Amino acid sequence: MSGDERKTAEGLAYLCGFGNEHSSEAVAGALPEGRNSPQRAPLGLYAEQLSGTAFTEPRAHNRRSWLYRIRPSAAHPAFTRTGNGAIRTAPFNQAVPDPNRMRWNPLPEPGPGTDFVAGLWTLGGNGDATQRTGMAVHLYHATASMERVFSDADGELLIVPERGGLLLRTEFGLLHAEPGHVALVPRGVRFRVELLDADARGYVCENYGAPFQLPDLGPIGANGLANARDFRAPVAAYEEDDGPVEVVNKFCGNLWTAEYDHSPLDVVAWHGNHVPYVYDLRRFNVIGTISYDHPDPSIFTVLTSPSDTPGLAGVDFVVFAPRWLVGEDTFRPPYFHRNVMSEYMGLIEGAYDAKAEGFVPGGGSLHNMMSAHGPDRETFERASAAELKPQRIDDGLAFMFETRWPVTLTPQAARAEHLQQGYDDVWRGLERHFRPLH
Ligand SMILES: [Fe+2]
Repeated sequence: MSGDERKTAEGLAYLCGFGNEHSSEAVAGALPEGRNSPQRAPLGLYAEQLSGTAFTEPRAHNRRSWLYRIRPSAAHPAFTRTGNGAIRTAPFNQAVPDPNRMRWNPLPEPGPGTDFVAGLWTLGGNGDATQRTGMAVHLYHATASMERVFSDADGELLIVPERGGLLLRTEFGLLHAEPGHVALVPRGVRFRVELLDADARGYVCENYGAPFQLPDLGPIGANGLANARDFRAPVAAYEEDDGPVEVVNKFCGNLWTAEYDHSPLDVVAWHGNHVPYVYDLRRFNVIGTISYDHPDPSIFTVLTSPSDTPGLAGVDFVVFAPRWLVGEDTFRPPYFHRNVMSEYMGLIEGAYDAKAEGFVPGGGSLHNMMSAHGPDRETFERASAAELKPQRIDDGLAFMFETRWPVTLTPQAARAEHLQQGYDDVWRGLERHFRPLH
């Protein structure tokens, strides 16, 4: 395969062993053997390290990659401020934290020519990007492929497509993400999003904290939930475009722009573990009760961003994937609860088993710390009277960003026209059934 064919080829390699070392080269011989930064890198390439964690973090958490590129990233002009559009960043302190339960319809239709970055709209979040803690919830709706290149110094981006396929051209190569997949772009990695359909929309978790990792499995054993072998990294692919390329850099909440005289997607070979990846949520190995009771939704955790306290995540990414329900003498839909964690839920397709209506693909709900929620009246009544034979749940794909800190809305989310009014009414009419014996 010639270099020209190779650099435009899309390919995926299994990322066997999450967080472990991986490598790829678009041209044979581009990857140096035995040394990360030889005096003269092969083929006249520049060697450059990209760190996702501090140099000294424990080996199990350390993330970094070595890139062998046509020009070093340092070769660029000064950045200047540009408009932030509808992107907002932690700390979120413009609106009063709200204990109410909230739900939104999908974003309004954007105008023509709206690319992924211009189509990002921030709902809210927590923490502080400058302190590298917390997270933000964004939605996107794009109608055009990006011509510019974007990178986010504030955090990694977990992209959850809901409508329309995406082709992510990253420094590490190409990734293809369809609805039902998630794509992760690590902190600082440059990429361009191209649309594979007329438009694209979905959700983004911007994680300012520790990189997402697979959760420990404990007594579940060595297999289950999201299996490491199903995470796919790109095959190295590079651009040789010598021409003006706009590069947008998100830094401490603001967008900065610079015009490069070449494409920064010029990495010919790489190795490391700070790499983009995609994961097909349909490959999630769902585990649940085979006796009674309704386990906590933590069993559906795909990825977790740990905090300083074991078991207490900065943010978890949780999926409600197709599964069988077989629990006996058990209320099967999600139970009524108040949670010290805060839950943003989105819907990729179909319906969710705790809500009869109103929670639609592209929309979302927020149940903040200690806010009471659970099935609506119709769902409660149906499930309470249901015959408990094995039941297949296969008509929906919902997910949750669950975070240890309350989610404070942006003013644009608190005042949005697509914020539903009267969401509390879904719990109206839950009747008193208490019948004391005496
Ligand atoms: Fe909940």
